[in-house]
Amino acid sequence: MVVPIHQQRVLSGMRPTGQLHLGHYHGVLKNWIKLQHEYDCLFFAADWHALTTHYAETENIEENTWEMVIDWLAAGVNPGSAKIFIQSQVPEHAELHLLLSMITPLGWLERVPSFKEQQLKLKEKDLATYGFLGYPLLQSADILIYRAGLVPVGEDQVAHVELTREVARRFNHIYGREPGFEEKAEASVKKMGKKQAKLYNQLRNRFQEQGDHEALQTAQALLEGQQNLTMGDRERLFGYLEGAGKIILPEPQALLTPASKMPGLDGQKMSKSYGNTISLRDDMDIIDQKLRKMPTDTNRVRLTDSGDPDKCPVWQLHEVYSDEERKNWVQEGCRSAGIGCLDCKRPLIKAIQEELKPIQERAKEFSENRALVRNIVAEGREFASDLAKATLDEVRQAIGIQYR
Ligand code: TRP
Ligand code: SF4
Repeated sequence: MVVPIHQQRVLSGMRPTGQLHLGHYHGVLKNWIKLQHEYDCLFFAADWHALTTHYAETENIEENTWEMVIDWLAAGVNPGSAKIFIQSQVPEHAELHLLLSMITPLGWLERVPSFKEQQLKLKEKDLATYGFLGYPLLQSADILIYRAGLVPVGEDQVAHVELTREVARRFNHIYGREPGFEEKAEASVKKMGKKQAKLYNQLRNRFQEQGDHEALQTAQALLEGQQNLTMGDRERLFGYLEGAGKIILPEPQALLTPASKMPGLDGQKMSKSYGNTISLRDDMDIIDQKLRKMPTDTNRVRLTDSGDPDKCPVWQLHEVYSDEERKNWVQEGCRSAGIGCLDCKRPLIKAIQEELKPIQERAKEFSENRALVRNIVAEGREFASDLAKATLDEVRQAIGIQYR
């Protein structure tokens, strides 16, 4: 069962790896900044996820978290639109993780691709741990505790959202069976009034008997617009549409982040582990140096040699930063040996410096005002906590351990 588009909440997290670089900015952050105007967004620092691989090196996690949050704010994540918080400060994630662990088959976790991949990649660490196996399930708890509808993630995380959907489905299947569900659902249908109830039933039949997804969406929109229904009625009717029981944890959808075109200084993907990054807070003269040192088409040894932009990582930067006119200038000048490589780099140096200047000014302000940053995160935490507590209440009730 999928949440209808218009009631969707967006949630995403990032592991605190310290100061962010231009790859993060052009990939993840600009996307978040766009989404915050379109949806209710929650963004959090996944510090527990950092522990799954860095359990033995925890000395920097806290500082890395603050620095990362400062970069989010400096880049333009706006706490007026999006809530920002720290995972470990909302311990409800952990309780849901525990409860989900009870119903999650081991095989589901063992066959998540990142499990084996990361173990191989980080051979020097012992990742045959319980926590590491549970990495994607903790992520599922992060998502489901807020009943998020959309989860912006990169390609490598889509499998985790897929797992989340399976776990939610299983949870609803096991615990969504209220006694007398059908009777209650029928009673809720009646509350919509004769005409609407008839329409609901028709749409429900069309979906259940013919698998008509359009009918499902229409019915979901119909429920959205009902003023006479309580939250409980409405939720029951969402579940009843698909013939399931009550939907306690709705299935989220991955919102694939468009791959960042930002290349690293060597033309590979920009990544800390390749040592090819421009950090958002690199000094202006460091940026200058890094770009000057950037390798170019290796066939272009002398100024009089012509070059081929397709073989040059600097060209990939022009693809991100330059307009058509300047791109033509590069193409012609390079192929005819009419411009030198430093000439070619100069406008890029300027463009990157100009892009980062305001970000750095804001980062400096936030760095000098940690109290403000702590306040923003405290506010985000409070907001997130309320949502998380409400979900957990229902989850406990559905399982039968509410003790009231
Ligand atoms: N695993 C994600 C990453 O490495 C971070 C993350 C943790 C996350 N929990 C999440 C992303 C929940 C989206 C939703 O990038
Ligand atoms: Fe690369 Fe520009 Fe030099 Fe051509 S002129 S090789 S595109 S840096």
